[in-house]
Amino acid sequence: MKTKFGVFVVLFIFHLVNEGLCSEHPDADLTTEELIKKYGYPVEAHEVTTEDGYMITMFRVPHGKNGKRVNQKPIFMMHGLFGQCENFILNVYNNGSLAYLMADNGFDVWLGNARGSQHGRKHKHLDPDEQPEFWNFTWHEIGLYDVATQIDYILEKTKKKKLQYVGHSQGGTAFFVLTSLKPEYQQKIVFASLLAPAGFMRNARNPAINSIVLIQKDITWFVEKTNIIEFPPKAIPVKVLLSRGCKNTILRLRDLCEFIWHIAMGGNSGEFDAEMLPVAVNFIPTISFKQSIHFAQGIESGHFRPWDYGEEKNMEVYGKPLPDDYPLEIIKIPIAMYYSLGDNLAFAQDVEDMCDAVANCVRKFLIPNKQWTHADFVAALHLREVLNLPVLEFARKYFVY
Ligand SMILES: *[C@@H]1O[C@H](CO)[C@@H](O)[C@H](O)[C@H]1NC(C)=O
Ligand SMILES: *[C@@H]1O[C@H](CO)[C@@H](O)[C@H](O)[C@H]1NC(C)=O
Repeated sequence: MKTKFGVFVVLFIFHLVNEGLCSEHPDADLTTEELIKKYGYPVEAHEVTTEDGYMITMFRVPHGKNGKRVNQKPIFMMHGLFGQCENFILNVYNNGSLAYLMADNGFDVWLGNARGSQHGRKHKHLDPDEQPEFWNFTWHEIGLYDVATQIDYILEKTKKKKLQYVGHSQGGTAFFVLTSLKPEYQQKIVFASLLAPAGFMRNARNPAINSIVLIQKDITWFVEKTNIIEFPPKAIPVKVLLSRGCKNTILRLRDLCEFIWHIAMGGNSGEFDAEMLPVAVNFIPTISFKQSIHFAQGIESGHFRPWDYGEEKNMEVYGKPLPDDYPLEIIKIPIAMYYSLGDNLAFAQDVEDMCDAVANCVRKFLIPNKQWTHADFVAALHLREVLNLPVLEFARKYFVY
């Protein structure tokens, strides 16, 4: 593990030294709305405010390229950790945007965002740059408040009773939290397609998240202090480093960058698209460190449950030494789960266990490519054929709502 972090550090320094040696991608300066328009789709921005004060912008693609009117089937898409809504549009270069595919096939697509992302860095009273309390959340709050508020807004705006849900990774986690703790939301979701959903983390072996388990055990005081912070810290200019490094062909830095990527993702699936990087780096959010630690708690305990404050504060908050597991068995929404043997975060066995734990898992779809990684679920070169088309085809079975 130490060696891997060493490689990161060396690479970052190398990047700094090589700033300015790179070429530009024509889409590198476009905003989300400009990007969507450029590829021929209509777009609207909508802002919601959660009951705990976070202000989040969603983007809506109300119909397809050749459509004239708003499609009648709302579908909400929720991104994963270190992602945001652009995850569902950026694969347009490989004809692999799930958002556009759904919009072209009768869905009214709503691209959701989590607090802390570039589209959720706003609060009624808290300043994300000055007040660390802004960052006092995990995916528990993202599910209970952000996803809930966005779903309610969509149903009100479209005057529909139900919508479909798509979640990648933590977007699946947020779905499990919301629908198990606020079962009334089960009436609002007709069907869910979960792509590499993160729930049980018993088998996860991702270098980034698993190393937090080690940190957590050894230096708890550090964790106490660093739970509630923005990560990576502002002092690290991730975007600059990545955009300089990953598009630099002269010094083959892009190969190095790709190599690091494969280490983090647990192998080379042959699906990595380096061409997308100069655009993708513009849409990497920061997160609350607490989100990763919450996943690390799940790796350590084997449980999928709310935040563990330690016994003393647990007694105060939950009235017992440990929080109860999320009651997955009460989730009756039909759910399709898409997963892969090459995924070191949403590990195949863990996804299968999640499928068994909920009441109505209607499809287990194992990606045929055994190397397919966690990020490939949104970024792969062959995303359209391998995943998006099967997702669309199955979602159509639940088109009556
Ligand atoms: C995407 O793929 C579909 C089906 O193969 C094809 O009809 C469409 O023209 C493609 N679009 C682009 C932009 O390549
Ligand atoms: C963070 O929020 C929790 C409630 O979700 C609260 O118990 C805790 O005291 C907060 N911590 C800080 C440092 O604000």
